[in-house]
Amino acid sequence: MTAQTSRAANDLSSPNDLDAWWLPFTANRSFKQRPRMVARAKGMYYYTPEGREVIDGAAGLWCCNAGHNRDEITQAIQAQAAELDYSPAFQFGHAGGFAIASRLAQLAPGDLNHVFFCNSGSEAVDTALKVALAYWNVKGQGSKTRLIGRERGYHGVGFGGISVGGIVKNRQFFGSLLAGVDHLPHTYNREQQAFSKGEPEWGAHLADELERIVTLHDASTIATVIVEPMAGSTGVIAAPKGYLQRLRQLCDKHGILLIFDEVITGFGRLGTAFAAERYDVVPDMITFAKGVNSGTVPMGGVMVRQELYDTFMKGPEHMIELFHGYTYSGHPLACAAALAAQDIYRDEKLFERTKALEPVWADAIHSLKGLPNVLDIRTIGLVGAIDLASRPDAVGARAFEAMDRAFQEFGLMMRITGDTIALSPPLIVTEEQIGEIVEKLTKVIKAVA
Ligand SMILES: Cc1ncc(COP(=O)(O)O)c(C=O)c1O
Repeated sequence: MTAQTSRAANDLSSPNDLDAWWLPFTANRSFKQRPRMVARAKGMYYYTPEGREVIDGAAGLWCCNAGHNRDEITQAIQAQAAELDYSPAFQFGHAGGFAIASRLAQLAPGDLNHVFFCNSGSEAVDTALKVALAYWNVKGQGSKTRLIGRERGYHGVGFGGISVGGIVKNRQFFGSLLAGVDHLPHTYNREQQAFSKGEPEWGAHLADELERIVTLHDASTIATVIVEPMAGSTGVIAAPKGYLQRLRQLCDKHGILLIFDEVITGFGRLGTAFAAERYDVVPDMITFAKGVNSGTVPMGGVMVRQELYDTFMKGPEHMIELFHGYTYSGHPLACAAALAAQDIYRDEKLFERTKALEPVWADAIHSLKGLPNVLDIRTIGLVGAIDLASRPDAVGARAFEAMDRAFQEFGLMMRITGDTIALSPPLIVTEEQIGEIVEKLTKVIKAVA
């Protein structure tokens, strides 16, 4: 590449080559014909390169909980980059990593008081699964290797995550490696639960399916159960009332570790720091990412209970206790951003605010009932989902058009999965902005009828 072409390639004001970037989880060919480009962001809004305002109905990808480009976070990242750009976490440490770890330990329920850092939700899930396997090994119960997930679970894209996840496409494309797992049934039933606000009344009994799995495989072969307290990426499925408590009881009864994947629900999305608190259940591990630093620098992690940590802290003191870690575990910039984001969450009481807004949000989103093709609406915390009827022979086409036109024509960014629209605005959203989202969505749903 010549100096001239490299300068042109760095000119971000008008990218002219959309070919080279293979976008993740994207219909690439369609995107490149009709790109949805974002140039900057502030607060609740994105702005296109032309300067058009787009309200963020999705907190980016369920991650920008404090809203966009918060000055406090920007300054913290800038200051950290100028002071300590990088420091290895293998055998060395830095103050920011310890500070955010103890902050998170205070925030998490019960004795979930140790944190292992990584860089994404997928890595957090694979880390938690590895900790579960290693834990039983260290305890001399190496036969406990089976991992139990749930249908319609999404646990990221690592091999561990797609194994316990319940997404059919993963089995179609990558299936051959996904052995040694079993799945609980998912908890969605439209007949019983349609148009639920909060946790559906029906479905707690589905946790008892764990008994069937234990009978089939024997508890001596099962390491852990992993579930999202609210399945987000497969269409917003809140746990039925009593379901998570029942799972905890059954895991205790059979000596099985329980992992809550809180990559979406962590940091206020359901009105508490972690969903575990909303349900008054202490899992053995919590995975987190996204909201930990409001999506600003890649960061994820696993919180583990005291007993898990203690189990590993044995043997000669010069020996590494867990053979696991990432070059960027506890990256200084991610830690600085997380400390600043946690300050915002605390000072602006964003988790409590979410709790207070939940009924307002629920009423607003449920007001879309009766619009063309709306089959179901679900809300919990500051999350909402709208199931649209699929077009004959074109599953996903209606929601895809809705997502595209919402951005291009109506100034609304949202997520879709199949023919479901998912909403999860930053936790700073005002009642007026909730109104704006609903008004725009009404137009979109009518436009794709
Ligand atoms: C529950 C859950 N776990 C894991 C992940 C994976 O996170 P990442 O995309 O950061 O790897 C996601 C992403 O949406 C998620 O929702």
